[in-house]
Amino acid sequence: MRVAAKALVGVIMGSKSDWEDMSSCGDTLEKLGVPYETRVLSAHRTPRQHDVYVASAEQRGLEVIIAAAGGAAHLAGVTAAKTLLPVLGVPMESKSLKGIDSLFSTVQMPAGIPVGTLAIGKAGAVNAALLAVAILARKYPKYHEELRKFRKQQTKAIVAHPDPRR
Ligand code: RP5
Repeated sequence: MRVAAKALVGVIMGSKSDWEDMSSCGDTLEKLGVPYETRVLSAHRTPRQHDVYVASAEQRGLEVIIAAAGGAAHLAGVTAAKTLLPVLGVPMESKSLKGIDSLFSTVQMPAGIPVGTLAIGKAGAVNAALLAVAILARKYPKYHEELRKFRKQQTKAIVAHPDPRR
């Protein structure tokens, strides 16, 4: 029986609707071979469940938490307030304000409680995964190697098709 590796990254989001963009975060972690877990947990709608999750995160072996939310996006900030683990925030694109609301409420943390905030939407979702892997790479040489390979392949794919018309 193959036992699943213990998750090193926790990917949480305020709503199931965030998965449309956040699946790119999961795909990227998978591509680089990083074990992760993912949950819908809202700072507003499920505050108690969020508390329990964050309180046990470090002890369960998580080393980075990625938190995505849209609108009045408090998830990353509230998570960061409750743990010493690095927290990366991904502002989700919102219907009414196109994610500007999510970006400002995620990035504008008061001094003392940092959230590493990425770009709005899918780009932020992918980059949160890559940044989480870069954090893990300081401790795990295999993830350093995975990141090196990822960058190399990315460059190779562009160089192989430099003409945008084809
Ligand atoms: C936030 O509200 C979620 O992170 C989501 O981006 C946004 C909208 O949620 P739903 O109404 O789609 O569930 O808490």
